Amino acid sequence: MVTSKDYRLGDFDYPRGWFMVGPASEATKAPRAIRYFGQDLVIYRGESGSPYVVEAYCPHMGAHLANNSTSYIVRDNEQIEGESIRCPYHGWRFGTDGQCNHIPYSDARPKAARLRTFPTLERAGIIWVWHDPEGLEPDFDLPVFGGHYDSPGWVNWKIDHMGDLQSHPIEIVDNMADLAHFQPIHGSINTTYFANEFKGHQVWQYFSSGHRTLVTEPNAQLYTSTWYTGPAILQSDMKGDFDSFIMIAHTPVEEGCTRVWHGLMVQVNDGTAPITDELRGAALAYQEGSRMALAQDVEVWQHKRPCFNPMVVPGDGPFGKLRTWYKQFFQPRDKAGEYQKRAEGLVVSVDRRNEPQAA
Ligand code: FES
Ligand SMILES: [Fe+2]
Repeated sequence: MVTSKDYRLGDFDYPRGWFMVGPASEATKAPRAIRYFGQDLVIYRGESGSPYVVEAYCPHMGAHLANNSTSYIVRDNEQIEGESIRCPYHGWRFGTDGQCNHIPYSDARPKAARLRTFPTLERAGIIWVWHDPEGLEPDFDLPVFGGHYDSPGWVNWKIDHMGDLQSHPIEIVDNMADLAHFQPIHGSINTTYFANEFKGHQVWQYFSSGHRTLVTEPNAQLYTSTWYTGPAILQSDMKGDFDSFIMIAHTPVEEGCTRVWHGLMVQVNDGTAPITDELRGAALAYQEGSRMALAQDVEVWQHKRPCFNPMVVPGDGPFGKLRTWYKQFFQPRDKAGEYQKRAEGLVVSVDRRNEPQAA
């Protein structure tokens, strides 16, 4: 099993940031067991409709809050009251701050009767949590995903689970700087521009190239602006046969296991006309093309051995800078700035925009 320590990323085993924990359908009034960041967790939805993620084990005597079907509290649908969750064993109830706020047979309210909670948001059909090894509030916002979700003229993504990879997320993040894989893996041809820009908690990739699947017009170019907000959420604005918007999210389940999802929203008209079944079908086919493109990376990630130090040659992108940037999320917050400063700036790997292009 490969760990964050093996990659010398910093003090923490799991990074700070916003992470996907599942599609919105995972959060219901029936609490459900999930596992991320090497911890057993529970996801549920309060009566207001808001989702919550809390630690799985009750501080009273350690019962699992979700893995129960026979307690009368569960059978009688008494587990969720307002926004609080009640333990199936002796009925202690915990509020959104994690503090015990009711014990059916006692007025005691021990301070230590507290569940660990995670800031949780539902956005763009997905449940997101803020994970922070220091237990602090978010210092950057969850992305808005272009504002395209549920917006006129756009077909929403369906979420693709790409698999649970036996590898460290850094191997996935490396893709941001990976200029040389585009031709063999994705069929990119005649690349005219490739650059990375490191800006605080974000890293950007600007890319323009021909493409064997996502643009079909001869000599047409695919333009992408792709960025990570924090360590685990990639968004990409893509102009090809359609304008589209990609997200790739990956969350550590435990050391050595990373869950990966993909989604693609497609703009099919300007929003003034209805979206016909035909347009919806074309958008979903385009999403499938994008999923297949990511599956080409995934196949490599699934089978590769860990790479602690890429052997970089001219023509490779700036892997070293990218990994320096990534380390900020494994450091205490007051040290993150040093890593941001070391990475900050624009690195242009290819610029042939003024050269005549091969036909
Ligand atoms: S173990 Fe949860 S209430 Fe006793
Ligand atoms: Fe890739």
